[in-house]
Amino acid sequence: MTFEGLDGSGKSTLASGLASELEKRGIPALLTREPGGTTLGQGIRSLLLDGVEMTPISELFLFLADRSEHMSQVIQPTLNAGVVVLCDRHADSTVVYQGYARGIDIQLLRDLNVIATLGVKPDVTFLLDMDVETALKRQLDANRLGSQTESFYQAVRAGFLAEADHEPERWRTLDASRSPEELLNQALEQLEHLRQRRAES
Ligand code: TMP
Repeated sequence: MTFEGLDGSGKSTLASGLASELEKRGIPALLTREPGGTTLGQGIRSLLLDGVEMTPISELFLFLADRSEHMSQVIQPTLNAGVVVLCDRHADSTVVYQGYARGIDIQLLRDLNVIATLGVKPDVTFLLDMDVETALKRQLDANRLGSQTESFYQAVRAGFLAEADHEPERWRTLDASRSPEELLNQALEQLEHLRQRRAES
């Protein structure tokens, strides 16, 4: 499962809360993130976030290199071992940030994501939706990627909502203005519904 949303939306808190809850229930789970879920990825994350100037295409290829490595070294083997993977940002962030917000062709990004992810898609993606103004106030560390204009973040928010509309069976949109406890409970309920639906089918 993956967690998406604006910077400052609380997705990392929800992902780690859910991972602990699953562990408590005896369900093996791995919490990971993009960029930065592998040794190579940590180097890529520093390059991306530390203010090195680069073109949007260079940035795109760094995100994809991070994802390709993460998928083959961590996510795929972990899923094969029967462990639930909770990934804080994944392929949808590329479609939304590099596509909807930076203007790179969205179909091209979808195709590149298929290569980087080995065609594996999350069973469920939680979108933590919140208004841009509140998200900006909540952004504590303004790194290079976290210091864009308000219109950039408006495009990001609209992009996530459009993607969620486009594939409603995978996306679960949560109101990120709720408290962390409420969000955790809502996500657990959604997972329980999914589990029941699968058990019935
Ligand atoms: P984080 O704040 O969730 O750690 O993400 C780091 C930044 O990277 C965030 O501003 C979103 C951005 N990002 C992209 O632009 N494209 C991507 O594919 C990913 C995974 C993140």
